[in-house]
Amino acid sequence: MNSSAKPRNARLAALISCGLLATILGGPVLAANPNPCAPKNPCAAKAGNPCAAKNPCAAKNPCAAGAKIDPKQVVRPAGYKPYQGDKAALLADGERLFKDTKLSTNGMSCNTCHQGDNAYQASFAKPYPHAVQMAKESVGLKQIHLDEMVQLCMVKPMATQPLPWNSKELASLVAYVGEVQKGFKPGAAKANPCAAKNPCAAKKQ
Ligand code: HEC
Repeated sequence: MNSSAKPRNARLAALISCGLLATILGGPVLAANPNPCAPKNPCAAKAGNPCAAKNPCAAKNPCAAGAKIDPKQVVRPAGYKPYQGDKAALLADGERLFKDTKLSTNGMSCNTCHQGDNAYQASFAKPYPHAVQMAKESVGLKQIHLDEMVQLCMVKPMATQPLPWNSKELASLVAYVGEVQKGFKPGAAKANPCAAKNPCAAKKQ
């Protein structure tokens, strides 16, 4: 070891420990800050939801991914021809896809959030197209069709690309969710809104 190495090493050590300190301090300090994702938090969809502020997985909040979504990603393209197929087959396929975590890039499936009709708001009971808060906030759309809503949940909470518009996958999910909608009653979701809507909590199951 030569003599000039010492101070350099010492400085390095200081820098490293400083970095460590910042990391240690940074954790709680950052966590204490108001959640920047709160308005987009799926839990926050219902005003006054107590779990919005306490969500321990705020950092992993899939709805926090990115700013505004380009309407081109979720609005039906010109000349759109949905895939046509046997209704029963599409329904079965849709139910399977709804639970398929491979559809997303963040380990979630549609079912992670929507099991037992969770996360659906009162708007889901209305015939499509209709206004949906998420569509208004993140895409600026006044109203949305069901297939577009599936695409929006693909892009935003599932953090991935929209499905090809003429795909069997999209038609299947639309058929399945359309069927779910028929039996949907606003407010009938499970009692504890935090446990069910918190995507991290759901993952631990
Ligand atoms: C991380 C949670 C999350 C995941 C995963 C998720 N969604 Fe959603 N979804 C929501 C939230 C939150 C809403 C309510 C949005 C609102 O009302 O503003 C919603 C609303 C909906 C609605 C109803 C909108 C309405 O009121 O008409 C449909 C349909 C839907 N999602 C389909 C899907 C499908 C299909 C998937 C999988 C491809 C999926 N979602 C994945 C969080 C999620």
